[in-house]
Amino acid sequence: MTKPRKRPEELRSHLWFGVDNLRSFGHRSRASQMGLQRADYQGKPLIAIINTWSDINPCHSHFRQRAEEVKRGIWQAGGFPVEMPAITLSEPFQKPTTMLYRNLLAMETEELLRSYPADGCVLMGGCDKTTPALIMGATSMNLPAIFLPAGPMLRGNWAGNTLGSGSDTWKYWAELRAGNITDGDWREIEDGIARSPGHCMTMGTASTMTSAAEALGLTLSGAASIPAADSRHAHMATGTGRRIVEMVWEDLRPRDILGAASFDNAVTTELALGGSTNAIVHLIAMAGRAGVALDLDRFDAIARKTPLLANLRPAGKYLMEDFYYAGGLRALLAQLGPRLDLAARTVNGTTLGEDIASAKVFNDDVIRSPGKALQEKDGLAVLRGNLAPDGAVIKPAAAEARLLKHAGKAVVFRDYNDMAARIDDPALAVDKDSVLVLQNGGPLGGPGMPEWGQLPIPKKLLKEGVRDMLRISDARMSGTSYGACVLHVAPESFIGGPLALVKDGDLVSLDVDARRLDLKITDAEMEKRRAAWKAPEAKFERGFGALFSRHISQADKGCDFDFLEGTAATADPEIH
Ligand code: FES
Repeated sequence: MTKPRKRPEELRSHLWFGVDNLRSFGHRSRASQMGLQRADYQGKPLIAIINTWSDINPCHSHFRQRAEEVKRGIWQAGGFPVEMPAITLSEPFQKPTTMLYRNLLAMETEELLRSYPADGCVLMGGCDKTTPALIMGATSMNLPAIFLPAGPMLRGNWAGNTLGSGSDTWKYWAELRAGNITDGDWREIEDGIARSPGHCMTMGTASTMTSAAEALGLTLSGAASIPAADSRHAHMATGTGRRIVEMVWEDLRPRDILGAASFDNAVTTELALGGSTNAIVHLIAMAGRAGVALDLDRFDAIARKTPLLANLRPAGKYLMEDFYYAGGLRALLAQLGPRLDLAARTVNGTTLGEDIASAKVFNDDVIRSPGKALQEKDGLAVLRGNLAPDGAVIKPAAAEARLLKHAGKAVVFRDYNDMAARIDDPALAVDKDSVLVLQNGGPLGGPGMPEWGQLPIPKKLLKEGVRDMLRISDARMSGTSYGACVLHVAPESFIGGPLALVKDGDLVSLDVDARRLDLKITDAEMEKRRAAWKAPEAKFERGFGALFSRHISQADKGCDFDFLEGTAATADPEIH
């Protein structure tokens, strides 16, 4: 439904700059202090540019320049740009995991927009958790908002070999340990695997989430696939600046765009891309902020009918740069056609169908048609059973087929350190049919649900040629990882979920077709163990960690804070 066009005196920023009182005198005189004149801002939409640039985030190293390009677009369209730095979540450097801080960036985004005179905002993110965090905060504030994806970095290169983020790090680390490459080779790979600004260029969490943002209708059409170093990325930034000014006049807000259909579109897209399992947690949390009830069963239902069309690592062969040259996300969405709700609205003031009407595939090995899908369906499966009453997830295609229906004896690690200390111990009682169980890797136990879910195969089994085993945890897994890894087990072991009650030697059974994950002990034995279970000590006494511990929800609910969920209105501040 089209709303009446806003008038300048209806702008939120008018309350700061346009009225005539003592406070507005203060706001204008301080603007003047910064060299601004009334003509620079009066009657113009004030656009907050939420910029997650930082010296410590290589994926956003171009964001200082891109912010200038966004500003150029905002000035061109008659807006007033104000850059607002926000905490960066730098996947390689922030410990213990960026997931601990996703909700902090979401809160910061929401409160920056609320407490300052923003009429609309440009959200600059891309490195894994920055995308969901910015969108969650902006959705809760519900001012006109547009997402500017950082774009993938260029393909890695070493000695004529193409290198992909994440996956080739592990591959060549194994080659080094096996003595197949030298220390000198390894150092050259270090310099060649990430050779331009931009986020990881495999279909890891970053590419998954920026593509999901586009499928949700929150970016300019085609924005998510443009490599960060391409001049067209700068063009896109300026276009994003121009568009947000119009969105303010149109009063087009996130909750006008984000409905059940757009989240179904994002889930379908993520599955067609072979995206990261991390998207499940993020999309559920994002939907919660928009008032859309998205649950694990919806992911399972969509997975049963969505083909894998993108031939991208880790599921396939190519990288994001190839994907862009092959037509990018628009071309993939066009291949999905009727599997999407093409009537869903987008920030462009159009429908998704209109946005992709002219899209073309230029390389049909990279972007497949449904008739030539890499896999017909089941990009992920949601499991339940007495070991995961609230659900767990697995990527069946990432696992050796023999493990999709499997029962084996548990080898239990009580936490990551325990696992690291014993996994390669020659005396560890483990064989290829064992089930590796990691406890205390969940939202509270990690803390922050780190990417520990791809437990290493014990060295002695590697030597025997074993490459995959059934592994179960309440942790997440990197979007670039592979293997028979059951992840996101809920409720988590740290709060006494059944995963905490598994003992060495217990029989654990997985049946992906039946969507079951069970611990083969009697109910009476389960109750006995539950009664004897003692809660671990709290991880944090004070600070953000204590807030996190008190309010974080479980994986199946998206790991949002309970007081941030939902769509209840929070009043704008009074200006006194
Ligand atoms: Fe930033 Fe991978 S490290 S996206």
